[in-house]
Amino acid sequence: MGGAKYAAEFELPDMAHAVLVQSTIAAGKILGFDLIAAKAMPGVLVIITPDNAEKLHNLKPAQQKVTYPLLQNADIKFNGQHVAVVVADTFERATAAAAAVRVHYRATKAVTTMDQAFSESVTPKNFSNGRAKPDSQIGETSPILPSGTLRVEQIYTTPIEHHNPMEPHATIAHWSGEQLTVWTATQGISGAQKALSSLFGLKPQNVTVICPYVGGGFGSKGNTWPPAVLAAMATRQVNRPVKLVVTREQMFTSNGYRPRTVQRIKLAANPDGRLLSVRHDVKTQTSMPEVGEFAEPSALITRMLYSAPSIGTSHRLVQVNHGLPTYMRGPGESSGAFAIESAMDEMAAALKIDPIDFRLRNYAERDPTADLPFASKALRECYAQGAAAFGWEKRNPAPRSMRDGHMLVGMGMATSSYPTNRMPASASVHLTADGSALVRSGTQDIGTGTYTTLAQVAADELGLPLGKVRTQLGDSRLPPAPVSGGSMTSASVVPAVQAAAQGVKAQLFALAISHGGFQWQSVSPDVLTLIDSAVDGPAGRIGIGQLFTLAKIKQLNATAGAQPAPDANDYSKHAFGAQFVEVRVDPDLGIVRVSRWVGAFDCGRVLNAKTARSQLIGGIIYGMGMALFEETRIDRNTGRITNANISDYLVAVNADVPEIETIIVDSIDPISNPLGTKGIGELPMVGAAPAIANAVYHATGTRIRDLPIRIEQLL
Ligand code: MOS
Repeated sequence: MGGAKYAAEFELPDMAHAVLVQSTIAAGKILGFDLIAAKAMPGVLVIITPDNAEKLHNLKPAQQKVTYPLLQNADIKFNGQHVAVVVADTFERATAAAAAVRVHYRATKAVTTMDQAFSESVTPKNFSNGRAKPDSQIGETSPILPSGTLRVEQIYTTPIEHHNPMEPHATIAHWSGEQLTVWTATQGISGAQKALSSLFGLKPQNVTVICPYVGGGFGSKGNTWPPAVLAAMATRQVNRPVKLVVTREQMFTSNGYRPRTVQRIKLAANPDGRLLSVRHDVKTQTSMPEVGEFAEPSALITRMLYSAPSIGTSHRLVQVNHGLPTYMRGPGESSGAFAIESAMDEMAAALKIDPIDFRLRNYAERDPTADLPFASKALRECYAQGAAAFGWEKRNPAPRSMRDGHMLVGMGMATSSYPTNRMPASASVHLTADGSALVRSGTQDIGTGTYTTLAQVAADELGLPLGKVRTQLGDSRLPPAPVSGGSMTSASVVPAVQAAAQGVKAQLFALAISHGGFQWQSVSPDVLTLIDSAVDGPAGRIGIGQLFTLAKIKQLNATAGAQPAPDANDYSKHAFGAQFVEVRVDPDLGIVRVSRWVGAFDCGRVLNAKTARSQLIGGIIYGMGMALFEETRIDRNTGRITNANISDYLVAVNADVPEIETIIVDSIDPISNPLGTKGIGELPMVGAAPAIANAVYHATGTRIRDLPIRIEQLL
């Protein structure tokens, strides 16, 4: 409806416009700039280069997660690196002047693709932010396997992928007095406040970050990326508000991507279909160390997905002259599930056992690597309900055996899983005499419906109609909350809202007891309830407004924090799912069409059926893109991205998407948080791509181990 205001849409008086200039070489040094023509162009206020850029503080990778040169030196580490920022009085003038900036480089030899340095891999230094180790092993590393053992040993690859949210990155920065205010597209206003205050040597309270709406992030807005920092640098230099909008093309070089992965899987199973050993060795791309390090943790899922006496995993990095990779929906799990769930399908075929049956024979009753019980797991129900709704029993197991007219029909499935995360969060609730409430939290709505679910929970707790509860989010002056990543916003923030609402409720009950006039002094507050905007108790009820009048108060407030229970660490916490897909493949043209989809998910308690389903189908559609379309192409000579636009970088569109049936199995997680939710954002993407690849194998007899699946691979 156009009612959501995004970062670039705030109007400030006297706003200047900044445009990025990017490196055209992949490695080397800037020798100098020729700025004479650009500076003479109309409206140009300043051109910031490494020669005159503000020196930043605390550039350590651990603190910022982003250590781009940020105009701090003349070194070039990738094609597309920001080398200058042109600020002018209009966007058009800044764009024209940016095109007139001349940069002289000395190019050195670059590693432009992972394959060029494949054998020189390194162990990640800060794997999974220290929450996991790069390698794992349970049981024997190379167990002696009996004769008759079946083996699957294959390499699976996934390409570089870019997030391409509808809203590009944008920042408006305003430096006034000692206060920096930024309106920026981010999944984490608290992280942006921390990063910007640290880089500019400011106190956190002197940086305000505002982001009421995000037009899609998918991980690309999880860090505070260079454009936001450079916009802040520019406003400090020109002393007026500066707007910096990243162009669609620049979105491919300014804010991360899912790195390419090359994954070797080795499975061994006995003829009864019991896994004897599982190995998953991952090599993935990162940037040069001066830029930062990111490791796509693709094998984490293999550590917990199936039970086997020997499970080993490793992650290694290949340093390439590209920008820093980052989280992209289901980071690790999405790419890793493609490898392990394709290999599981290959093994089931080798064993001549139904793929679901094979998975059930190796069902993990507890997390085999962590050696912990699962907090909750209803994966059996996902397989059963998904298979029934899909009609799995109609599948003829032989590849290339099913047709609809001329079209080959394939049915495939795969398992889904994603960790249940939670971090400390806080919120406040404000109740006024007219019976309306305001919920506030320094979280953000990245398009998942956070405004709605937080209001719902407060309305429930306070016995108010939903229309009487407003939510305010996306402002770092509000009670702090974590990044909206890792599918943890509800799990983290909802308990805080609930606790704050309970704080208001306790105050209301105290007032009802002291001022209600019902002789409630002797009753326990437990017998009081809040319903229909009134306190209800033995022998009477009193409306909130009336109570406020009697007590002579205008409002009630409560602020509360909530954090994970300490014993949550005694469990392995995950959501699960089963994906079922039917494809139709044209045997002459190799075109793959997804024709049917059923996804059954164990995602804990669902707070809102509509927003949950939106996330589930969104993730599945993202998985269709991963399987069939998405791939960032690099020119090997220059290290330049050749499809940096959304007409050449293909994503799934409506015409690619059939009716999707989603099933939410009955499951409430008793451990992860008081509401029993598990998080939905990333889960439905995991397993979607291998389910399609498995269906394509079933349709055609051709096993595709390199994404995306292309027409030419099927001819
Ligand atoms: Mo998600 S990739 O943690 O935004």
